[in-house]
Amino acid sequence: MNIILMGPPGAGKGTQARNLVETRGMVQLSTGDMLREAKDSGTEMGKIVAEVMAKGQLVTDEIVIGLIKEKLETVKANGFIFDGFPRTLAQADALGKLLEGEGQTLDAVIEMEVDDAALVQRITARSTCAHCGEVYNDITKPIPADGKCTVCGGTEFKRRADDNEESLKTRLMEYYKKTSPLIGYYYAKGMLTKIDGLADIDTVQGEIAAVLHK
Ligand code: AP5
Ligand code: MG
Repeated sequence: MNIILMGPPGAGKGTQARNLVETRGMVQLSTGDMLREAKDSGTEMGKIVAEVMAKGQLVTDEIVIGLIKEKLETVKANGFIFDGFPRTLAQADALGKLLEGEGQTLDAVIEMEVDDAALVQRITARSTCAHCGEVYNDITKPIPADGKCTVCGGTEFKRRADDNEESLKTRLMEYYKKTSPLIGYYYAKGMLTKIDGLADIDTVQGEIAAVLHK
């Protein structure tokens, strides 16, 4: 089963994708994570995307489609979770063709609905484990008092360069201008299910499980 988790920055896509990896053995394909890895490894592509990402703008379709193509051709999985991809109509068309080329289908698109006020709080309070990538939040999911990651025991935590109010404004604008048209695109294909992303993490997890169970 291949699914897309769609929603604005901070909607909880990464949090829920990690859960599906753990509980269902699916493979998370987050273009944001792939681009951050490229940035950290200092490759030519990493240098090009670093500035674009810090501002909160979208990286070119060509780059992200290339990243997804490579994964689909090389990784074998019991279902992919597309997290933060596609983000434009060109990316959505490309994904359809790539899956078809691999003899696979797209089975569900889950839109996580949240309001903008909640997103500011979620984004500015987020941190992730530098070792395993577990996502924390100063208010809703704090790092344990002993300073150790609950998943891997790591003690180093990072904050993202684009997790500030200024970049978030641009990220939200990009979402509404370029990504939200995909809601209609997948609705018309009969694939879209909306869920309440404002509920707590476990409740959202249950809603996603119910969609996948259908
Ligand atoms: P990307 O990394 O995809 O970022 P994003 O879409 O802005 O989304 P986030 O990762 O910020 O949020 P999330 O929905 O994963 O939320 P999370 O689970 O972490 O992209 C970054 C940049 O890369 C883009 O701006 C662009 O430049 C580039 N890029 C990436 N993909 C691209 C593409 N396809 N095309 C072009 N450019 C691309 O949760 C957030 C916080 O909330 C956490 O602290 C978490 O603990 C907390 N939380 C989660 N769920 C809940 C809940 N239910 N209740 C309370 N708190 C919660
Ligand atoms: Mg994410």
